[in-house]
This record gives sequence, structure tokens and C-alpha cells, in this order.
Amino acid sequence: MLYLYSPEQQDHYHHLLQEALPDWSIACWPQEINAEAVTHVVAWKPPVNFFSRFSNLQVIFTLGAGVDKFLQRDDIPEHVTIIRLTDAGMAQQMTEYALYGLLHFQRKMDIYRSQQQNTVWQPQPTRLAKDTRVTILGLGHLGVHVAQTLAGLGYPVSGWSRHPRNIEHVRCVHGCDALGSLLQETDVLFSILPSTDETQHLLDAKHLALLPKDAALINAGRGTLLDEDALLNLLNQQHLRFVLLDVFASEPLPAAHPFWRHPAVMITPHVAADTIPEEAVAQIAANIQALASGHPVQGQVDRQRGY
Ligand code: NAP
Ligand code: GLV
Repeated sequence: MLYLYSPEQQDHYHHLLQEALPDWSIACWPQEINAEAVTHVVAWKPPVNFFSRFSNLQVIFTLGAGVDKFLQRDDIPEHVTIIRLTDAGMAQQMTEYALYGLLHFQRKMDIYRSQQQNTVWQPQPTRLAKDTRVTILGLGHLGVHVAQTLAGLGYPVSGWSRHPRNIEHVRCVHGCDALGSLLQETDVLFSILPSTDETQHLLDAKHLALLPKDAALINAGRGTLLDEDALLNLLNQQHLRFVLLDVFASEPLPAAHPFWRHPAVMITPHVAADTIPEEAVAQIAANIQALASGHPVQGQVDRQRGY
């Protein structure tokens, strides 16, 4: 039996899953069921101890790409396989988000907005795409799509990952030792890194200060990446010109947080790339079939690695 936890779109997901998996018995939270019969769960942000009741659980399919919250739980036994979404319609959205922030900065919409508030008619010097160096932190399913699209638009694009990568028209560098010099050569830094022990506060005061003066930062990966106090300090020193943030250490961002009112910060409420139910279910159904026939699945999480 497959059990579904997605309170906000329960009926829609139930319908799609049943259509894609006609031979499966599918139940939805909070329906009372024989928990021992459940072998597969599809879920996003389930409550504490949700998984404890499923003594025969084999596989969890997450309805998102980031699995940090799943890996922090203590109700998922080691033998249970966790499979996340890979792209499933998110790469295109993530690319649009990155492009929006990039254009806002490169075409000086932040400056014109502030000029408009003061009725100032003052053209700013033109900055071309070829003179705007973009660095993508994270070259996974989402980062690669962003990097290739921006490179295709004429931006000089660099990408950073843990392992060596080879992507056409993108300068690929990897490993911690390479990060410092990469940041020094970046005008717009876009992060789409997962939250892991290694990426926690990776952008601390030391690393952020390496970005050139008047650079921009866009974070759509996870909020744990940033030392938020260090970022505020740099913003207050007017070292960075523009910051677009979709993810935060604490979500929803508390009302008293200084980011809300900072003139150089633009905030979105964790919406950079939404899960598309049709694409998610198609991927889950394909993976269930792959598991049943002994073929490799897409998106199996490596718990040691943390993503
Ligand atoms: P992915 O395919 O697993 O890719 C992760 C990338 O990050 C890989 O290139 C990996 O390097 C790199 N990486 C991980 N740890 C690193 C480290 N310590 N140093 C350098 N590079 C490191 O993940 P994805 O599907 O692209 O998704 C990325 C993240 O986006 C998710 O984990 C989630 O947090 C976030 N997300 C946000 C939203 C939103 O709406 N804001 C939506 C979807 C996803 P290797 O290639 O060397 O393994
Ligand atoms: C959203 O943040 C996701 O990880 O899918």
C-alpha cells in the first residue's frame, strides 16, 4: 500500500497517483489504515513521528528536491530508501528566478526604482551581459539548467560543485579550495546548493567579503548557506548592491528580521521553483516501476552525502 501526505493538494495528488498506479492501493493522511500494510510513502513536510507507525516501510518519495528536513528526522530507519524529485519542472522555474534577479541587477532596476521614488530622471551607464560574470554554486539538476541557459544568453558563467564537471560554455570549478578565487571573480552569485553539514554557513563573513564591491547575491538553495548577520554587515557597509533571497534560516522569515526592510534586499517566500504535481507523479510512478523491475531509480538520496 502507498500512503500519501500532502494536506494542501491531497485530492489532486491522490487522483494523479491512482491514475498512474492503477494496481496500487493508495490511502491519504489522515485516513485510518492498517499501517503495517504501507510499504511506500509519498510526502512533503510530514509531522514529527509521522513515519514511526509504518513498520514495513521500504521507500519514501519526497515531493520536493531538497531532503535536508527528511535527513534531520529520527523516525526514518536507515534501511528505508529516500527518493527525491529531480527537476520535475523545477529547473525551468529556477532558471527564470535566477534570470529575474540577474536582470534586475544588470539592468539596474534597483537603482531606477529608487530614482523613481525620488522623481529622478538619470540614465545609468550601460552594462552588457558579456561584462556580467555569473557564478552558480551547485551544478546539480537545477544548477546545470540555470548555468547553460545563462551562458546561452551571453553571460560569462562559472559553476561550482563538489566533483569535477564538464559543461559546455560553462567554466566548471570544484572543491573548497577553488571557492575563494571564484568569488573574487563574480559579479552575480547564484546559489542552488542543498543544505548539508558542508554547506552550512559556507557563505560566512570571510567568503562574502571576497565578492567584489557592488556585486549581487541570489540564494534559492537553502537559508542555512548564509551567515545572515555577516550578510547584513556587508549590506550595511554597502559592499553588496543587491540581494534576492528566497530561502532563510528560519521560515517564514520572522516579521522583525532586518532583511524585510533593508533597501538592498528583495524577498520572496520560498517560491523560486514549485513542485508540479503532474511531473512529480510521473517521476514517482516511473521510479516505482524501476524499483519493481530492478532498474536504477532517479533521485535516490545518499544519506551520508546529505543530498
Ligand atoms: P542536486 O542535483 O543534488 O545538486 C546539488 C549540487 O550541489 C551538485 O552539483 C553538488 O555537487 C553540489 N554540492 C553539494 N554539496 C556541495 C559542496 N559541499 N560543495 C560544492 N558543491 C556541492 O540538487 P538539485 O536538484 O539541483 O537541487 C538543489 C537544491 O535546490 C535542493 O537541495 C534544494 O535545497 C533547493 N531547491 C530550492 C527550491 C526553491 O523553491 N527555493 C526548489 C527546489 C530545490 P556534485 O555535482 O559534485 O555532487
Ligand atoms: C523546495 O524547496 C524543494 O526542495 O523542492
